[in-house]
Amino acid sequence: MLLYLLLVFQANANAQIDPAHCRYPLGMEDGRIKDHDITASSQWYETTGPQYARLNREEGDGAWCPAGLLQPSDTQYLQVDLGQLTFLTVVGTQGRYARNSGKEFARMYRLNYSHDGQLWRSWKNRLGNKTMEANDNAYVSVIKDLHPPIISRYIRLIPVTKMPTTVCMRLELYGCPWHDGLTSYSSPEGQLMMPPGYPIASLNDSTYDGAHERRKLSGGLGQLTDGVTGQDDFLVTRQYHVWPGYDYVGWRNGSLGSGYVEMEFVFDKQRNFTSMKVHSNNMFYRGVKIFSSVSCSFKPRLIANWETEPVEFRTVLDDRNPSARYVTVPLGRRNAKALRCRFHFADVWMMFSEISFQSADTVIPTQITLAVTSPWPKEESSMPTTHKTVTTPSTKDQPDDGNTPILIGCLVTIILLLVVIIFLILWCQYVCKVLEKAPRRILEEEVTVRLSSSSDTIILQTPPVPPRVSQMDHPYERVFLLDPQYQDPAGLRNKLPELSRSAETSACGGGYAEPDVTQCTPHQCFQSSVPHYAETDIVSLQGVTGSNMYAVPALTVDSLTRKDISVAEFPRHRLLFREKLGEGQFGEVHLCEAEGLPEFLGEGAPLPDRDGRPVLVAVKQLRADATNNARNDFLKEIKIMSRLNDPNIIQLLCVCVSSDPLCMVTEYMDNGDLNMFLSQREMESTLTHANNIPAVSLSDLLHMSVQISSGMRYLASLNFVHRDLATRNCLLDRRLTIKIADFGMSRNLYSSDYYRIQGRAVLPIRWMAWESILLGKFTTASDVWAFGVTLWEIFTLCKEQPYSLLSDEQVIENTGEFFRNQGRQIFLYAPLLCPPSLFELMMRCWDRDIADRPTFEGLYQALRPHVVQ
Ligand SMILES: *[C@@H]1O[C@H](CO)[C@@H](O)[C@H](O)[C@H]1NC(C)=O
Ligand SMILES: *[C@@H]1O[C@H](CO)[C@@H](O)[C@H](O)[C@H]1NC(C)=O
Ligand SMILES: *[C@@H]1O[C@H](CO)[C@@H](O)[C@H](O)[C@H]1NC(C)=O
Ligand SMILES: *[C@@H]1O[C@H](CO)[C@@H](O)[C@H](O)[C@H]1NC(C)=O
Ligand SMILES: *[C@@H]1O[C@H](CO)[C@@H](O)[C@H](O)[C@H]1NC(C)=O
Repeated sequence: MLLYLLLVFQANANAQIDPAHCRYPLGMEDGRIKDHDITASSQWYETTGPQYARLNREEGDGAWCPAGLLQPSDTQYLQVDLGQLTFLTVVGTQGRYARNSGKEFARMYRLNYSHDGQLWRSWKNRLGNKTMEANDNAYVSVIKDLHPPIISRYIRLIPVTKMPTTVCMRLELYGCPWHDGLTSYSSPEGQLMMPPGYPIASLNDSTYDGAHERRKLSGGLGQLTDGVTGQDDFLVTRQYHVWPGYDYVGWRNGSLGSGYVEMEFVFDKQRNFTSMKVHSNNMFYRGVKIFSSVSCSFKPRLIANWETEPVEFRTVLDDRNPSARYVTVPLGRRNAKALRCRFHFADVWMMFSEISFQSADTVIPTQITLAVTSPWPKEESSMPTTHKTVTTPSTKDQPDDGNTPILIGCLVTIILLLVVIIFLILWCQYVCKVLEKAPRRILEEEVTVRLSSSSDTIILQTPPVPPRVSQMDHPYERVFLLDPQYQDPAGLRNKLPELSRSAETSACGGGYAEPDVTQCTPHQCFQSSVPHYAETDIVSLQGVTGSNMYAVPALTVDSLTRKDISVAEFPRHRLLFREKLGEGQFGEVHLCEAEGLPEFLGEGAPLPDRDGRPVLVAVKQLRADATNNARNDFLKEIKIMSRLNDPNIIQLLCVCVSSDPLCMVTEYMDNGDLNMFLSQREMESTLTHANNIPAVSLSDLLHMSVQISSGMRYLASLNFVHRDLATRNCLLDRRLTIKIADFGMSRNLYSSDYYRIQGRAVLPIRWMAWESILLGKFTTASDVWAFGVTLWEIFTLCKEQPYSLLSDEQVIENTGEFFRNQGRQIFLYAPLLCPPSLFELMMRCWDRDIADRPTFEGLYQALRPHVVQ
C-alpha cells in the first residue's frame, strides 16, 4: 500500500543559486526530457534522430547524427527545450558507441542558448572562447563545466569539426531551475579603477550577453547572475587567468552624473517579490562600500508606467569590517514584472558581484514531496493512509547584512570546495563509472554472489563494458583538472616529506585507546616520504580471521582464558556448512545453518524471526595451524564480542572453543549486507514500480542511517572503536533492521575497498579519517568519519565507491591535503538523493579537527527526527 509522506527539508528559504549544488542531470538520460523536446537541424537516418541523443543510452542506432559529413563551415545542431528557465552548469557529451559498432564522436562543440527559442546567443567561456573540447572516443562521456553558467530555456549543441567527418553525439545537461526568474538586467557599464600604486582593476561585466551601447548594458544577463560571489579583496579573483577585479562590476561616484547607479530588472512573469540580495564589496580603506540606500520602483507589465511609490531601503554602513557581503533589501511583497532600482553611493566606489531575487515563486526548492511505498509488508497493511511531516531542525540562520561576515567567508570557501569536488565526482560518475567498477568484479564475465539463503541467488550480470582504457592514461588530468599543480604525481610525492616531518612529532605520542596497536617509532610510521603504516601494526589491526577487530582499551591478552568467555559452547556437529563468506590470513568465515540453536540458546535469544526457516549464522573459524598469537587474538575477539549487546550490533551467539578449530558463531541476516542490498536497488519512483525494479524510499534510507548511528552510539558508549564501519559491514534482515558486523575485509567481494600494503596488510582507506591513515590513530572520532562515508554510500545507493575516481594512492595523497588543510582536499560530493541538511551532517563528520566532529549520540539525535515511524 502507499503511504504518503510529506518530507519538508527546510533548506535556506532565501538561498541564492549555488552553482556548486546546482548540478542535477536535467533528464536526457532518464527520459524526463521528452522526445518531442529534442529536435535537430538534420539527422542521418530515422535511427539516428535527435531522440537518440541521450547520454549513456543505446536506443536506435545509439546517438544523434546530423546528415552527411560534417563540414568545418557547417552549423548542424541538436536543440533541447528544457521547458522552463534553467541555470545550466555542466554539459556532458558522448559519441555513438552502439554496443561497440559505432565509432563516431565530436571532438569539439559550441553552444547556443535562448530564452524564447527566437533570439539565439552563443555561449563563450570567461576568456571569450566559444569552442568546447568534447570527446576523443565513442564511449566515454566527457563532462564540461560551463564557466560562466547559462541561464536559458532552449539550448543548442553545435558540433564543430576541423576536417570533414561524420559526427554523432549523445548529451546530458546539468543544472537546476532558475527560480529567480530574471531574464535580463540593464546597468551602466562597469569601469576601470586605476589607483596609483595598485594594479588596475577592470570592473566591467565581462560575460554580459546583451547589448552594449553608449556605455550602457541592456537586454542580457552576465556576471551579476553567474553564481560567483566576489572575494573580500576585489583584486583577488576566483577564476584563473583573468584580470584583477574580474568578479565585480563596479562604478565610480560622479562618473555617472548622479549619486546613484540605476539598474533595471526584467522577469519572466509577474512575481510577488519578497527581497533582493546584492552581494557587495566593502573594502572601505580602498574607497569601496556597499550602497548607502536603494529605492526600487515596480512595473506590473512591461508596457506600463513605473508605480509611483518606490520601496526605499537604507543600509547600515560599516567601516570596520572590510568583508564582502550580501545585503538583503526587503521588497515588501510587491507584484511586478520589472523592477528599477537606484543604488546610492556611500563612498567613491560601489562594486557588486551578484544580485538575486526572492519572490513568492521561489519556494519550490525548499520542499520535497514524496510518495513512498511502505517497505514493511503485511503487518502495516491495515494502517490507514497517513500524512506526516518531518521538519529538520534549522541548523543555522542565513547570514545577512554583514552581521556574520565570517560565516559568509566560510560558506564561500565551502562553495568553492564543492565546485571542485562535485566537478570531480560528476566527472567520475559519468565518465568512468564502468572503469572504476571494473576492479570490483571478481570474474570478468559474470559474478554470482550468494549472500543469504541458498534460495536467494543474486546474479550480477556484467554490464556491457566499453573497451578498456588504461586508467593510467591520463588519470591526473581527469582528476585534478582544476589545479595544474596536481597534474604531476611526482610533484605531489615530493610534497609529502613536509607532511611526514611535521607529523612525526605528533604521530606516535597520541594518547588513544590502544597502546599495542599504535605504538611505533617515527621511523616505522614514515619509512619513506610516502606515509604508510609499519607492517607489524597493520597485521594486528586485522582480526585474525581476516576481519577487523574492535579496539578495546586496556585488555591484556595474557589474562584471557576460557572462563573469561561468557557465551556457551555449541556442539560443533550441529553447524551445517552452507557456503564460504570469506577468508583471512588465519581463518575463514562460513555461512552455516545452526541446528537447534533457538532451543540451545533458550528463551529471549536474539535470533531473527525465522518463519520456520533454518537459522543462519556466520561462523568465524580459526585455522588449526594458526599461531599462538593468533589464538590469543581470537579469544580476545570473542571476549570483546561477548560484551556487546545492542539491537543494532551483530551478536555473538555461541562459540566452539573446546577443541580445534576455534569458532565463534554470530548472527547472520537474511538480506545480506547493506552494500549489496542497496546497490541492487533504485530509488522509488513510478519507473521502478512499472519495471518491477526493487526500490527503496528516502525514509528507508533515513531509517537505516538512524539504526547505524544507534549501534555506533552504543559502541562509542563502551569506548569501542570499530575501525571499519561501512555499508559492507552492515547486515540487514527482511524488515530492514540493521546490525553492524565486522567481517568486511575477509570477503573477496569487497577486496577493492581495501588498500593493500605490500600484498599483505589491508586498510579501508576510503573510509578512514586522515589521522587514521597518516598517524595510525583510531578513535571514536575516526569512526564518526567512517560513519559520514557510510551515510554517503547509503544516499548514493552504493552505486559507486567513495572517491571512485581517485586511485588508492590519490586517496592517500588527498589525505595529505586534509592534513595540510590548505583548501585543496577533495570531499565526497553531495549525493542527489541527500537532503541538504544531511549532507551538512556528513561534512561535519569529515571535519579536520577531531574535536569538531559530532558524536554518535549527536548524530543519532540529529537523524532520528527524520524517520517517520
Ligand atoms: C548561434 O548564435 C549566434 C549569435 O550569437 C547566431 O549568429 C548563430 O546563427 C546561432 N547558431 C545557431 C545554430 O543557432
Ligand atoms: C578555444 O578552445 C578550443 C578548445 O579548448 C581550442 O582548441 C581553441 O584553440 C581555443 N581557441 C582560442 C582562440 O583560444
Ligand atoms: C573587460 O575588461 C577586460 C580587461 O580590461 C578586457 O580584456 C575585456 O575585453 C573587457 N570585456 C568587456 C566585455 O568589455
Ligand atoms: C557622489 O557624487 C556626488 C556628485 O556627483 C556628490 O554630491 C556626493 O556627495 C558623492 N557621494 C559620496 C558618498 O561621495
Ligand atoms: C504577495 O504574497 C503575500 C503572501 O504570500 C500576500 O499577502 C500579498 O498580498 C501578495 N502581494 C500582492 C501584491 O499580491
